[in-house]
Amino acid sequence: MCGIVGYIGYREAYPIIMKGLQRLEYRGYDSAGIALYDGNQIYLSKTKGKVEDLKNKSESQIPLNGSLGIGHTRWATHGVPNDVNSHPHYSNSGDLVIIHNGIIENYESIKTELIKRGYVFESDTDTEVLVNLIEEVKKKENVLLGHAVQIALNQVVGAYAIAVFDKQKPDEIVVAKLGSPLAIGIGDKEFFIASDASPFIEFTNNAVYLEDEEMAIIRLGKEIKLRKIKDDAIAYPMIQELQLNLEEIEKGGYDHFMLKEIYEQPRAIKDTYRGRLLVDQGLIKMSGIDQNLEKFMNAQRIIIVACGTSWHAGLVAEYIFEDLARIPVEVEYASEFRYRNPVITSKDVVIAISQSGETADTLAAIKLAKERGAFVFGVCNVVGSSIARETNAGAYTHAGPEIGVASTKAFTTQITILTLIALKLAKAKGEFSESRFHEYLTELENIPAKVSKALEANPLVEIIADVYKDSENCLYLGRGYNFPVALEGALKLKEISYIHAEGYPAAEMKHGPIALIDEHMPVIVIATKKGHYEKVVSNIQEIKTRKGKIIAIVTEGDDQVRDLADHVIEVPETFESLTPLLTTIPLQLLSYHIAVMRGCNVDQPRNLAKSVTVE
Ligand code: AGP
Repeated sequence: MCGIVGYIGYREAYPIIMKGLQRLEYRGYDSAGIALYDGNQIYLSKTKGKVEDLKNKSESQIPLNGSLGIGHTRWATHGVPNDVNSHPHYSNSGDLVIIHNGIIENYESIKTELIKRGYVFESDTDTEVLVNLIEEVKKKENVLLGHAVQIALNQVVGAYAIAVFDKQKPDEIVVAKLGSPLAIGIGDKEFFIASDASPFIEFTNNAVYLEDEEMAIIRLGKEIKLRKIKDDAIAYPMIQELQLNLEEIEKGGYDHFMLKEIYEQPRAIKDTYRGRLLVDQGLIKMSGIDQNLEKFMNAQRIIIVACGTSWHAGLVAEYIFEDLARIPVEVEYASEFRYRNPVITSKDVVIAISQSGETADTLAAIKLAKERGAFVFGVCNVVGSSIARETNAGAYTHAGPEIGVASTKAFTTQITILTLIALKLAKAKGEFSESRFHEYLTELENIPAKVSKALEANPLVEIIADVYKDSENCLYLGRGYNFPVALEGALKLKEISYIHAEGYPAAEMKHGPIALIDEHMPVIVIATKKGHYEKVVSNIQEIKTRKGKIIAIVTEGDDQVRDLADHVIEVPETFESLTPLLTTIPLQLLSYHIAVMRGCNVDQPRNLAKSVTVE
């Protein structure tokens, strides 16, 4: 996730901004930059790489004086990580300079218009388009920066936290927020701007957090002026006195990155379908698919290669693709696929799924598939990662950096992307009527709110976790779309709490695992209303008669299972194929709480790495 830092006051801006960027490194990034104004000239330095690289480059390249400046750590969404695409960005005149965290969805159409008006662009970023739109508005409307920013932002669609200043008016910085965080530190004759309070907490604990669609004109010697971007209404700054320490700020006030990332899922899913799921227009826009639709439509099968949680997302995709798009799918562990001399032809499409984009087995599987003529499509979370560069095309999940080793938001955003692809192919193949397709788009757009609802079960899940935290074994059962969720729930528990856990298709119990059931065996059963519900209820009864302890994940309002299970956790109702996006939530929370209660290192579990870049 990008990080922004800014300063205007009486001190030297450089050390404050540089240290502030270091404080934001935890957010994950691939490049960094800084712009300073020394009273006459703006000096700008930026680079692909780490803040340390920026420090070395700045200190050898530009004067470091000036009490006005902005800095940025970039997590690439548009344009690969390189020096030119790094922020800050100048406007064409060189008067304005901007930093931005977010995504401008309609930047291409704006860029086309600006090019017609003679603007030129160095980078591939949406941010450089935004700063030149602001410049064009400022010139055409003959208004000051603050007003130009407001008019420009009413023309863009997307998410942003921006800071921008004009060297012609160096006593102010203008900031604005929609969908990405932005905090203003209020000092004595000085102001700080940042994505969170960590860059300025040592200078002041008085902060204003902008609300969505709010902007502020921060002028030295004046009170900050807040206004609503849409209707110019004055907003009144609510100054908060922060009690957080640095570590708490990095985790957003959560005890662990994993819990923070579990709670980020509504936003992460929304960011992943942002600009792709166009419900009003009744379409799904994915350039990586649009440009290769022929290959997918003519594929004799789709082979999915992945590892771990990403493999579980692939299993969900198998159900979705075959159920909705009627395309044959095989899901392969990349580590097996790469060595078993698989039959691959040019009629195959391979989808490689990887959060990190660096998993060695998956990378090797991709290379093998390409050598044998298959078209390979990547679903990654890290822009410019090895897998993203190795595949023929792809689509990024916009989950933001996932710091916790245990994948959570990666899983749900991967399923989101794979659902978009399956729906798009189903529509292209004529498997869906317009109305049915629109129903699906609408329900997918409702998912972030339903995930938020599922998260409300957290207090109940914590109580249940306390009951089972000392278990030595655990079984997870699911049918249909929820069978992969059972596998994923078991993986979550074993990798962070070190309890042995297994996931099974519920119907498979009678072929052996039911021998394990006794009063010491907790069994988590996903028993949502959609898909073989009555059969799962029968499985629950079989477990109950053998004294197994039953934790059931049910559709809200289901009282039938409540009478059978020892514990019931509700999730909202949704379409059968979208159920995994909800049923996985309580399982993530359950594994998290049990691990915490067992004193495990939740974010860095023993023996595990976040990205397995070796065999
Ligand atoms: C899941 O919680 C683990 N972090 C692990 O299984 C992970 O999913 C696997 O290593 C694949 O990683 P990738 O998605 O980055 O390729």
